[in-house]
Amino acid sequence: MQVRAHGPGRVNLIGEHTDYNAGLALPFAIARGVTVDGEIGDDELVTVEARDLGERDSFPLAGPQPAEGWRAFARGLVAELREAGVAVPGARLVVEGDLPRGSGLSSSAALSAALSLALLGLAGTEDFDRVELAHICSRVENEWVGAHTGMLDQLAVLCSSDGRALLIDFDSLGLRDVPLNLHGWRLATLDSGAPHDNAASGYNDRRAECVLACELLGVMTLREASAADAGQLPDPLGRRVLHVLTENARVNEAVEALDAGDLALLGRLLDSSHASLRDDYEVSTPEVERAVAFLKDAGAAGARIIGGGFGGSVLGLFPPDADPPEGAEVVSPGPPAALVATS
Ligand code: GLA
Repeated sequence: MQVRAHGPGRVNLIGEHTDYNAGLALPFAIARGVTVDGEIGDDELVTVEARDLGERDSFPLAGPQPAEGWRAFARGLVAELREAGVAVPGARLVVEGDLPRGSGLSSSAALSAALSLALLGLAGTEDFDRVELAHICSRVENEWVGAHTGMLDQLAVLCSSDGRALLIDFDSLGLRDVPLNLHGWRLATLDSGAPHDNAASGYNDRRAECVLACELLGVMTLREASAADAGQLPDPLGRRVLHVLTENARVNEAVEALDAGDLALLGRLLDSSHASLRDDYEVSTPEVERAVAFLKDAGAAGARIIGGGFGGSVLGLFPPDADPPEGAEVVSPGPPAALVATS
């Protein structure tokens, strides 16, 4: 039996660093991503070839040991899917992609979505619940890869719909499709050139600061906090909380702006999200600032850092009369992760 699965990257339109704070976000899946070809192997072994990197891994189906980098994803997914009762067989997997790693477009979620759907296909359980699968992919990233990320990326790539953004409420895990009618405006990403790596960046520090803020305020999550609460906290915790609160409000305003076809307002919201991420959440870098300024100079009505920050890509919203500059790539919502072929 042979399968092919595709996991897309994602762009988060707005709602950054809100996922692990029980907040709101509005991501969409993009066309670029990771493809995994798989076939059932003859023994109790899983072999994985990362073709773009020219690297291989091989590990026992029962009880894979932890490993570094991309190897942690395959090992973790095999272990966690088996733990969830999936009869993952011995397999040979080949991974290829056109999503640059470290570009902040969630090559990690693309990889784990493609790998997990290929493994589910080989196990004959491709109707596995998508939200539960997002939990499993997230656990792998947290516990096997060592990046204490939230569920934004996994839900975006596994649960979105073609042509639409996905409004996620991380408090209730409520999901709602939001049509992305841009009326001739265009969204474009630009790589800042500074690689981004959640496991190694200040991402885990930010997450720990939010946990500390909750402890000091006596709340379970920052969804329960108010601007007055933020004012009581020592610096920089107060600014971290303020970012989360204002960013949640901006997600709601962005949905309203899209409903009303008010793209200029959406642009202003991207700008204020960026200012908040730069000044209050402090996840920008000089390279990111240069990339944002480059998009604004080219006529973007709004531009901001996307993803975890500390490098990676920026996103700009261009009115119909402004062309994204050279090096920027126009992005639009594409289909979610899927098992694309079985034979
Ligand atoms: C990374 C993480 C996500 C999310 C974003 C910031 O992409 O993987 O879980 O926290 O950063 O919004």
